[in-house]
Amino acid sequence: MTLIDGKATSEQIKQEIAAEVAARISRGEKRPHLAAILVGHDGGSETYVANKVKACEVCGFKSTLIRYEDDVTEDVLLQKIDELNNDEDVDGFIVQLPLPRHINEQHIIEAIDYRKDVDGFHPVNVGRMSIGLPCFVSATPAGILELLRRYDIPTSGKKCVILGRSNIVGKPMATLMMQKHTPGDATVTVCHSHSTNLVEECRQADILIAAMGQPNFVKADMIKEGAVVIDVGTTRVPDATRKSGFKLTGDVKFEEVAPKCSFITPVPGGVGPMTICSLMLNTLKAAKHLF
Ligand code: GUN
Repeated sequence: MTLIDGKATSEQIKQEIAAEVAARISRGEKRPHLAAILVGHDGGSETYVANKVKACEVCGFKSTLIRYEDDVTEDVLLQKIDELNNDEDVDGFIVQLPLPRHINEQHIIEAIDYRKDVDGFHPVNVGRMSIGLPCFVSATPAGILELLRRYDIPTSGKKCVILGRSNIVGKPMATLMMQKHTPGDATVTVCHSHSTNLVEECRQADILIAAMGQPNFVKADMIKEGAVVIDVGTTRVPDATRKSGFKLTGDVKFEEVAPKCSFITPVPGGVGPMTICSLMLNTLKAAKHLF
């Protein structure tokens, strides 16, 4: 069994990005610039955005954090998005989700210029990805593909089962795993809360990607011997023995599943660190104006 070290891989990629940025700066090119809009004080969102800002520093990017209180109006956010769309110094920006209930997330996402949508959530990017055109791919699926690539994990002709059908992970992951590409060329099945044969499907998977947000859902008896298991779950389960008060818990019961796997990602330290790294790669791509 090989443990897929997302933390080490992401550190290496950030160093590669920093070297490329240094070379660009020495040629007199502009420093890549990522802006982030954060609304409210949700603990998870605060941590994610702080980590994104930190990653920008490591990569040599400029970053701008724009904060609003929970009661910000949709109009104020749309105005700021318009400003960022037209700000030539900003290469890409994100609006951290979730947003308060009075704001329509889809309005916000669609207001972002798709050429600056480094989260890859805009319908233009989603559509371009689905037909294999240059685009921004959302960070978590892009990070998983990068891990499969860097660990030389064969995907062509393999049966890949994805648990979860979210717009951010499950759906784009399915599209990418079936694309005519490496990694890709897999036979993909997507299972979700209405699937009746989920366990049977999992047992046949050469590659299982668990992204349904149910801690410890995937057990050893659902795994084929030698499978590759990618755990996207990051649920905060209360744990009084920890300073933070919670334990980040994956969708896979790691201790019993790991011995059956050829490769597996841990939680934390697997997919999570790769997600931020993909955002950095997307920002560098935005700075290059490749499409
Ligand atoms: N909330 C959870 N994941 C993400 C992400 O990848 N991007 C943004 N903007 N918000 C998120």
